[in-house]
Amino acid sequence: MKLFLAIVLIVTFSSLVIEAIELADVANICENETLILNLSNSAKFDRNSIVSSTLRCIVIRSNYVDIKESSFENVPNLKYLDLRRNVISSRNLFSFGNISHLKILNLGYQDNYENNYNSKEITISNKYPELEYLNLAHNSISDITAYWESENPFPNLTHLDLSGNKIYSPLSLTLPSTLTHFDLSNNRISKFSFRELNNLLSLKLDYNKINALDHLYIDFKPLKNLENLSITNNEIKYMRSSIENLVSLRYLNLSYNFLSDFDFKMIEDLHSLEVVALDGNSIDDVSISVPLNITTLSLNCNRIINITTNSFYNLKNLRRLLLSGNMIRNIHENSFQNQKLLEELYLDDNDLNYLPPYWCQFTKKLRYLNLSGNKFTSLESVLYDSNLPVRQLYFERNPVIYINGSVISPEMTIFLNGNTTSYMRLCAMKSVGPIYG
Ligand SMILES: *[C@@H]1O[C@H](CO)[C@@H](O)[C@H](O)[C@H]1NC(C)=O
Ligand SMILES: *[C@@H]1O[C@H](CO)[C@@H](O)[C@H](O)[C@H]1NC(C)=O
Ligand SMILES: *[C@@H]1O[C@H](CO)[C@@H](O)[C@H](O)[C@H]1NC(C)=O
Ligand SMILES: *[C@@H]1O[C@H](CO)[C@@H](O)[C@H](O)[C@H]1NC(C)=O
Ligand SMILES: *[C@@H]1O[C@H](CO)[C@@H](O)[C@H](O)[C@H]1NC(C)=O
Ligand SMILES: *[C@@H]1O[C@H](CO)[C@@H](O)[C@H](O)[C@H]1NC(C)=O
Ligand SMILES: *[C@@H]1O[C@H](CO)[C@@H](O)[C@H](O)[C@H]1NC(C)=O
Ligand SMILES: *[C@@H]1O[C@H](CO)[C@@H](O)[C@H](O)[C@H]1NC(C)=O
Ligand SMILES: *[C@@H]1O[C@H](CO)[C@@H](O)[C@H](O)[C@H]1NC(C)=O
Ligand SMILES: *[C@@H]1O[C@H](CO)[C@@H](O)[C@H](O)[C@H]1NC(C)=O
Ligand SMILES: *[C@@H]1O[C@H](CO)[C@@H](O)[C@H](O)[C@H]1NC(C)=O
Repeated sequence: MKLFLAIVLIVTFSSLVIEAIELADVANICENETLILNLSNSAKFDRNSIVSSTLRCIVIRSNYVDIKESSFENVPNLKYLDLRRNVISSRNLFSFGNISHLKILNLGYQDNYENNYNSKEITISNKYPELEYLNLAHNSISDITAYWESENPFPNLTHLDLSGNKIYSPLSLTLPSTLTHFDLSNNRISKFSFRELNNLLSLKLDYNKINALDHLYIDFKPLKNLENLSITNNEIKYMRSSIENLVSLRYLNLSYNFLSDFDFKMIEDLHSLEVVALDGNSIDDVSISVPLNITTLSLNCNRIINITTNSFYNLKNLRRLLLSGNMIRNIHENSFQNQKLLEELYLDDNDLNYLPPYWCQFTKKLRYLNLSGNKFTSLESVLYDSNLPVRQLYFERNPVIYINGSVISPEMTIFLNGNTTSYMRLCAMKSVGPIYG
């Protein structure tokens, strides 16, 4: 065996491991002993390289690493293996073979500049019966296949991170129904199936190529337990038979898509839903015709012009309403008549030059109001009553001409700044693109 000698640290806990915490479990598993190999050169591992009957956690970083089959055979209690950023080719990702008690495996970020041009199909011929957490982010993977079709290599998997790969259609590998957290962000997906995944709690599909949410393309039907769904920064133009059956949903984010309309009837029967975000679409009319219990509604960066009596009448539980970056000109004085619980209202970067008298007579809990970036010339066109419950009023970037102090209540802090030329960044987000790191 070629002798390799490098920095070998046995520590209770180090910065490298802290960086690697994805699960609270890691802290417990790796509590007493972690082997961290930070190698400046290339390195070879075989079954004689690491021998320990108690070691549970291994972290390896190098420029190039060759890991032979059974390299961790003499570490029978290995539960945590972190091989991120070693420029391992896709063919060799699982070269260490079977590891029977492994719980957490992090193989993310093998891509480097030479390594990420072609998409790769990977085949898994090993077995990880106790693996719960698998991270394969940023590896240019287009598909995953199991070598033994009858046997699932990951029968106990709960967390799977496949973000930043080149996946465009359903995987050949049947994912186990134990999966609860699935990250498919930053891929090329337009079509996918979530069959069998009836225990999924969290699904991320941000930055893909989905242009229709329709069961023929993206089938959410099995996801009866799903709580969090994020499909931002796609190209969704229409939705049909898609989210209606996600009866456990609590959080839905469809921001930065191409929706010109959102039919709130689709979420009528989702009784646990709390947060709905639809920022960065082209919704121009909002009139929610069905009662909903949601507490946060975010409609930033759309094309809304008028807020009417009907707009939010059916949202009795609303606590946060975000309407920044629209073209709102008119707000009817009864628009918020049912928002007795409303605490935060964002109306910044709109076309408002006045709010009607009594506009906030019902919103007795309103404590935060953002009116920055509008066309108000005076505070009196907003505050008609010094009993306004608002504690923080943001009034920056308005062409304010004068302030009449007698309308200001002593509990209120007003943030003023005469600069009307500030550039509005809020709605330019879409062009930022995914963050690779
Ligand atoms: C770490 O060491 C302490 C004290 O010896 C022990 O109580 C604890 O169970 C150990 N933790 C693990 C994960 O082995
Ligand atoms: C690992 O080594 C590299 C240089 O070889 C150094 O830049 C890096 O900070 C080291 N990481 C840790 C966690 O010690
Ligand atoms: C790894 O596990 C698979 C599936 O259980 C088995 O067929 C194979 O023989 C094992 N390989 C080794 C080297 O033990
Ligand atoms: C899942 O892991 C547990 C131990 O954590 C094990 O007893 C069980 O057999 C595993 N399930 C499968 C399907 O291998
Ligand atoms: C859902 O998202 C919320 C807020 O981002 C988070 O607190 C919660 O843990 C997530 N739930 C799951 C099951 O991931
Ligand atoms: C929805 O997603 C967008 C884009 O990632 C994000 O900026 C926004 O904060 C999210 N909204 C909510 C309410 O979580
Ligand atoms: C709202 O909550 C109430 C009380 O928890 C419940 O009876 C009702 O069905 C819910 N309505 C919707 C539309 O979720
Ligand atoms: C908005 O309201 C104004 C005044 O009530 C009305 O003239 C205009 O047609 C409305 N615009 C839209 C898009 O509803
Ligand atoms: C209020 O809105 C302005 C303008 O969009 C924004 O810059 C600011 O951060 C907001 N204030 C807070 C506290 O969110
Ligand atoms: C300031 O507001 C008070 C109360 O609304 C009003 O009586 C008074 O005339 C105003 N003063 C000026 C200079 O506009
Ligand atoms: C106003 O905002 C612009 C753009 O952010 C900035 O360049 C300028 O210095 C600001 N002026 C003042 C007086 O703050």
